[in-house]
Amino acid sequence: MKPISISRPLLGDEEKEAVLAVLESGQLAQGPRVREFEEAFAALCGVREAVAVSSGTAALMTALLAHGVGPGDEVITSPFTFAATANAVLFAGARPVFVDVSDSDFNIDPALIEAKLTPHTRAIIPVHLFGHPCDMVAITALAERHHVAVIEDACQAHGAAVGERKAGSFGSGCFSFYATKNITTAEGGMITTEDPHIAERARVIRDHGQTARYRAETKGYNFRMTEIAAAIGLAQLARLPDLNERRRANARYLSQRLQGVITPTERAGCHHVYHQYTVRVPSPRPDSSQARDALAARLERSGIQTAVYYPIPVHQQPYYRDLGYGDSLPIAERLSREVLSLPVHPALTPGDLERIVAAVNESPQEA
Ligand SMILES: Cc1ncc(COP(=O)(O)O)c(C=O)c1O
Repeated sequence: MKPISISRPLLGDEEKEAVLAVLESGQLAQGPRVREFEEAFAALCGVREAVAVSSGTAALMTALLAHGVGPGDEVITSPFTFAATANAVLFAGARPVFVDVSDSDFNIDPALIEAKLTPHTRAIIPVHLFGHPCDMVAITALAERHHVAVIEDACQAHGAAVGERKAGSFGSGCFSFYATKNITTAEGGMITTEDPHIAERARVIRDHGQTARYRAETKGYNFRMTEIAAAIGLAQLARLPDLNERRRANARYLSQRLQGVITPTERAGCHHVYHQYTVRVPSPRPDSSQARDALAARLERSGIQTAVYYPIPVHQQPYYRDLGYGDSLPIAERLSREVLSLPVHPALTPGDLERIVAAVNESPQEA
């Protein structure tokens, strides 16, 4: 039986033609297509400015530096994320402070943030995990009250929204266009912001700190996006509403039929874009991942690829333990033993979806 993969980029003639046009133009490095992609992406998010960079990690680092985050500063974020979120804070010279998540949506729990604020807190990085937006009403209110910046890790949340407002419009937004994301440029990233001053600083930082050719006024890197990536990104952006709708329809199909697992929820008023469709499979013993692992093994035998995002929360990663982290964050730790992401990508066929449901529902989860 044909295997069903956990992710698959959807690229067509538009992307191929766009790449060929770049190759024929002779302009390969950052140029007019990057500018066009930035403008289109800013419009998607409903913000004034967008700055294209070479990856989601570069977007996070650039945004942190553009906000002036540096040594001596603390940045509050989620432990239940890809390590890039916290690594960017370390690379900016600041200290990540982890706040536990909510088991209803896997996102940072706003009610727990206040207790971790100190005079050193400079920013909060909420991560819109799996495409479900964080409670941005509570987080932005808290951030305003305490005068800290909000830098959204929207790397998995292209097109997600809270009410009418898009992810990436609540603070400075950071997006990734890695190959598995809802839209891709192979590798790539974007910073979105309402603040022209932050956008200007980001443009300087992504290009060696130069304010003019060979005039470096601040520390910077080469975080530029190529014209090839931007051309693919423009073609992908045109597909995003359709791609997200297909993800949402696949998620609806699964949630209506799956048995024996805890299916993901969408908070009222939120628009989830299902970068991942992540179920929970609790084991009778809460310190065990046996039931989750058994289901993953069974699906693998049926040719259905699954993934665990994330098996080790960031504060318990070996490198972070060496830095002295590891304090108990019980919800993130429990989720890391329970979560299993099932295929939800837009290339799934009705037959694939039926197979996934049949394989999950086959028998009660063993403990
Ligand atoms: C939540 C999160 N943050 C940051 C990143 C980093 O993005 P990139 O891989 O484009 O550097 C990713 C993507 O892998 C991500 O999923």
